[in-house]
Amino acid sequence: MPRDEWLDPERTDHDLEPAVQPALDAGWPPDELATVAYERAIRPRTMDEFVGQAELKEQLGIILGAARAASRPADHLLFAGPPGLGKTTLAGIVAAELGAHLHVTSGPAIERAADLAAMLTKLSPGDVLFVDEIHRLPRAVEEILYPAMEDRQIDVVLGKGPAARSLRFDLEPFTLVGATTRTGLITGPLRDRFGFNFRLDYYAPADLEQIVVRAATVLGVVIDAPGAAEIASRSRGTPRIANRLLRRVRDYAEVRGDGVVDRLVAADGLALFGIDEMGLDKVDLQLLTNLCRHFDGGPVGLSNLAISVGEPTETVEDVIEPFLIQQGLLKRTPRGRMATPAAWRHVGYEPPAAAPSDGAPSLFT
Ligand SMILES: Nc1ncnc2c1ncn2[C@@H]1O[C@H](COP(=O)(O)OP(=O)(O)OP(=O)(O)O)[C@@H](O)[C@H]1O
Ligand SMILES: [Mg+2]
Repeated sequence: MPRDEWLDPERTDHDLEPAVQPALDAGWPPDELATVAYERAIRPRTMDEFVGQAELKEQLGIILGAARAASRPADHLLFAGPPGLGKTTLAGIVAAELGAHLHVTSGPAIERAADLAAMLTKLSPGDVLFVDEIHRLPRAVEEILYPAMEDRQIDVVLGKGPAARSLRFDLEPFTLVGATTRTGLITGPLRDRFGFNFRLDYYAPADLEQIVVRAATVLGVVIDAPGAAEIASRSRGTPRIANRLLRRVRDYAEVRGDGVVDRLVAADGLALFGIDEMGLDKVDLQLLTNLCRHFDGGPVGLSNLAISVGEPTETVEDVIEPFLIQQGLLKRTPRGRMATPAAWRHVGYEPPAAAPSDGAPSLFT
């Protein structure tokens, strides 16, 4: 039996992780192989396995159910939200629930309009095309998508200059699933052509706890409810982080204890890896500390803040800041980023009188 199937007996066509066999052939180091195998095993494959996001699941269930009942492809769907909340996972679930083939690509991978045209004309009836990071499609490529989504047609220009000819191709009915971490960067014409635009929110602690317990079962880790709750509460509302922290805690429990994860083991293990009680890691804390100490609490521009922690501006904007904002630690203002009083206190300083309110009720208003 091929190694791949042995690692993942549930394996289907919709491949979201790199397959294990090619990785083995390419000589990936064992810990990366283990990560691939683990991620394949824990990624939910069906709507039932997908934890939380109740409203989204209900709406999506209706859209997919209606499409299935009428034997037609579902409307084009857009999933937006911060990294690690389940957009790619949902694309796989959409295909599985429709019993359709999933084709996976991403915005930056499609450089030329002809590449996308080739992809579209190869689709069979009912197929699902998943375009990750769809906000990063080059504009000329994006324009091919408009008639494809709307009228199932594409126009391909052959040749150049006066001799150029435009050819029209009909496409099979298909469902486009787009994912983006940046709704703001999706152009109006593209957004309008999706039949539904789902926004994923950060997960509630109870949902994350369930995700941790499920992943622990897959990993064969013995964990009690308080241990799972401790990991969940430090996971920044994000399933991907919950799954990652679980593995760090498992390592800690194996080396420092008897392998069993309870609340204390989880808390000690996460502290050792630099994750604080709110789930902030070293970079988050460094960013807040720099904001308060070096920039006097702001306002400071994004690029200065990013340079101060040695991260690309995109990472700061897409990955680090959304959670800090959601937690009331940081504010984006027209003049720049500002620390809230809660941020000052979190990094161990008294907020100055001028710090913007973090939303705490005031006696005087
Ligand atoms: N609702 C959920 N229930 C259980 N596990 C989940 C859920 N959502 C995500 N996960 C897990 O979290 C991990 C990250 O999810 P996914 O890859 O779908 O995120 P994403 O939104 O596509 O992130 P990115 O923007 O970085 O591409 C997956 O390995 C998956 O197993
Ligand atoms: Mg993804």
